[in-house]
Amino acid sequence: MKHTRVKDLLNSATILQTINAKGWVRTFRNNQFIALNDGSTINNIQCVVDFENTAEETLKRITTGAAVSVTGDLVESKGAGQKYEIKVSKLEILGDSDAEKFPMQPKKHSMEFLRENAHLRVRTNAFGAIMRVRSVLSFAVHSYFQQKGFVYVNTPIITGADAEGAGEMFQVTALPLDNLPKTEEGNIDYKKDFFGKHTNLTVSGQLEGETFAMALGQIYTFGPTFRAENSNTSRHLAEFWMIEPEVAFNDLNDNMDLAEDFIQYVIKYAMDKCGDDLKFLESRLLDEEKSKPQAERSEMALLEKLNFVLENNFKRVSYTEAIDILRDCTPNKKKKFQYIINEWGADLQSEHERYLVEKHFKSPVILFDYPANIKAFYMRLNEDGKTVRAMDILFPGIGEIVGGSQREERFDVLVEKMKALGIDEEELWWYLDTRRFGSAMHSGFGLGFERLVLFVTGMTNIRDVIPFPRTPQNADF
Ligand code: 4AD
Ligand code: MG
Repeated sequence: MKHTRVKDLLNSATILQTINAKGWVRTFRNNQFIALNDGSTINNIQCVVDFENTAEETLKRITTGAAVSVTGDLVESKGAGQKYEIKVSKLEILGDSDAEKFPMQPKKHSMEFLRENAHLRVRTNAFGAIMRVRSVLSFAVHSYFQQKGFVYVNTPIITGADAEGAGEMFQVTALPLDNLPKTEEGNIDYKKDFFGKHTNLTVSGQLEGETFAMALGQIYTFGPTFRAENSNTSRHLAEFWMIEPEVAFNDLNDNMDLAEDFIQYVIKYAMDKCGDDLKFLESRLLDEEKSKPQAERSEMALLEKLNFVLENNFKRVSYTEAIDILRDCTPNKKKKFQYIINEWGADLQSEHERYLVEKHFKSPVILFDYPANIKAFYMRLNEDGKTVRAMDILFPGIGEIVGGSQREERFDVLVEKMKALGIDEEELWWYLDTRRFGSAMHSGFGLGFERLVLFVTGMTNIRDVIPFPRTPQNADF
């Protein structure tokens, strides 16, 4: 018999006769009530087992984690909190789950324990909700850009380019490790390890994306990117997903407008489609907050925070203004940073970004016109000769969620910059062609998808919003 998803059963307009549901047992109470979850919704459906007419052997096998099939009538529930339940006439155990050994017991587990069991943590309420929200958000990304006529581009994963010029790349080798090509001096010749060419995993699809924008007008990428940073923070992954739109003829202000509109759209989309999951995540957070001292509790509940972002414009602030604000509140006044900003030109640390967003502006902030020497080579130089048309979007609780810029479209200026930074022109010959043939103003940005999911779900560690997090030494699955 074809089964019906629990979500559809719970949303049914009427009671129904003889339906079938399949899923996993969350709990089994009083030898009678199964809380069944099939992943279609945060809500379990209660299945009432006729225990007097069910073999003792079968009842014993209804344990947390077991896969079961229940057939019966969908009837109105007498219990509080649910409209319907299933009055079971036939129960079948599809897959046993040893109650002693099943790691996802119906109790609170530490996040660390859950991360070590990433293949099973998705069977908990919180991770089921997070992964459904993540899925809806990725659909929203496509929905937004497709509606606006952007072309989705799949940029390469294996590439010879270092898009950010930051050197944080995983090297790719196509040859057996003990048989890598050697230089004349006998050292491994990394320049040749991909059948004669050196390659790495992409850190960003931007440069390839730019070449497509200069033909198709407006494009976006949405794919995995890799950073070989040995960082163990709650905001960094070695493998994360990035969304990178790139638009011909857009200047930096257009770029900011696009980023703001896009972020608001996807958040609204998730709020419309994931109401139950977000309400669940909000209540989970409120519970967690109760265990914190008053001063550390967040001022807004999750949905209020999301609404705030929808209803308020992001504050646009130049780097120079931001530095003045940060200098004013350091060093001898109340606000103490670990790293004190004394001079114009210093890179902001996440403590500064969070101060600006959470304490000073109390709103998402778009910082723009950064000093050229702390930003990537491809950003357009301003008339002042020392700042570039860069923008970072900073979010409460997250810090940087977007990094982008207007691109340097002038061939000579770009080549000069690459020379100054020691970036090989020959390796980026194809990129420079965009500036050789029909160059024009263009802009784009990259949004770290997991940072967006962090914000929308209210989670605090980036490892908890991606199915199988890749962090240093963590790659079992
Ligand atoms: O600021 P980033 O490095 O910018 C770029 O890669 C540009 N090529 C984007 C562009 O203009 N097309 O990265 C962009 C965003 C960051 O703002 C952050 O949200 C996310 O990607 N990000 C990471 N997310 C998780 N783990 C990491 N290690 C990340 N590094 C960057
Ligand atoms: Mg950045």
